[in-house]
Amino acid sequence: MAKSGRHFLQIPGPTNVPDRVLRALSKPTIDHRGPEFAALTREVLSGLKDVFQTSSPVIIYPGSGTGAWEASLVNTLSPGDKVLMFETGHFATLWKDIATRMGLQVDFVAGDWRHGVDPAVVYAKLADDRAQAIKAVCVVHNETSTGVASRIADIRRQIDAARHPALLLVDTISSLGSIEYRHDDWGVDVTVGCSQKGLMLPPGISFNAISEKALAASKSAKMPRAYWDWEPMLRDNKAGFFPYTPSTNILYGLREALAMIRDEGLDNIVARHQRFARATRAAVKAWGLDIIAQNPAEYSGVLTAVIMPEGRDADVFRQIVLERFDMSLGTGLGKLKGKIFRIGHLGDLNDLTLAGTLSGVEMGLKLADVPHKAGGVLAALESLAAESLAPVS
Ligand SMILES: Cc1ncc(COP(=O)(O)O)c(C=O)c1O
Repeated sequence: MAKSGRHFLQIPGPTNVPDRVLRALSKPTIDHRGPEFAALTREVLSGLKDVFQTSSPVIIYPGSGTGAWEASLVNTLSPGDKVLMFETGHFATLWKDIATRMGLQVDFVAGDWRHGVDPAVVYAKLADDRAQAIKAVCVVHNETSTGVASRIADIRRQIDAARHPALLLVDTISSLGSIEYRHDDWGVDVTVGCSQKGLMLPPGISFNAISEKALAASKSAKMPRAYWDWEPMLRDNKAGFFPYTPSTNILYGLREALAMIRDEGLDNIVARHQRFARATRAAVKAWGLDIIAQNPAEYSGVLTAVIMPEGRDADVFRQIVLERFDMSLGTGLGKLKGKIFRIGHLGDLNDLTLAGTLSGVEMGLKLADVPHKAGGVLAALESLAAESLAPVS
């Protein structure tokens, strides 16, 4: 069927790529060993530090987030090392699987997929570890499968309270550039990030932000590593180059996205996302539906995972929304398949994009005959109006 208007990509990543970024991506590819490229590398590496809120180096991999996960482990740890991980959802489970396959000994704290990492459990586990066998604590900041955000600053405080030297590794794949995050202030050792969410880029590049402590750990870490090795990256990046062929065109897009982030201001971006999240939750509440996240202190600013009423298949509903309104909503992942749908309110969107998204959901609920109350969109509009960020002059 012929379609008019734009597709609504309202999954929690990849997100809508702004026109400015799309245009930047379409520039001719240049010599990645030439002077123009070196200037581009230096510019984006420096701009990324502002987004991670760090003065330490950030590495850019041509690879998806999964690669940057692997990189964070193989650069800092040795085979057989013990690591502490938490079952907050599908992505935390995948990171755990990588750690296990790498030969690490994972203490995987069971979870119900409705809560983030409990800082008190971090304290208890580390205080118990008298031999200091745990070498790293790994946390997914924003669990994209559930819309639950763990409290990284509180977790850091508990690691410090336990006086434990474990490294803190944090996955910010769906929070970077959208939920408040401070690599340096929160004492994070490796932050794993990605292009296709808050940074408004296509998939294809991913990041490791590295603390001095992580860099020191990498000198004695024994895990085999080649492609993901920080050392040749850091060496070549100094001169503006990469040890292998970089994603030149995505770096053009990154330069443009960083300019957009600078223009809007990181604090404003975080506030915009929180405002959209509150409006979305107001809609869900008015529909009489529930969300996965149970602790308000852990509500995600970038996506809302909505529980389907018993006996209804969330994927059938999503299919109807796609066919009728040309809008993609996020599917339920892992054990949540068919049970939930996820509304992405992440990246390049404004009040009207959100209003359109929620209208599509409300019309879809009606078409799919899902038991719900009307008035969700109205509730969201009221929430947005009540929280207008700037007065109209
Ligand atoms: C929190 C989180 N971690 C890791 C990943 C894996 O990243 P990728 O699919 O780019 O390899 C994702 C992907 O959505 C994610 O949301």
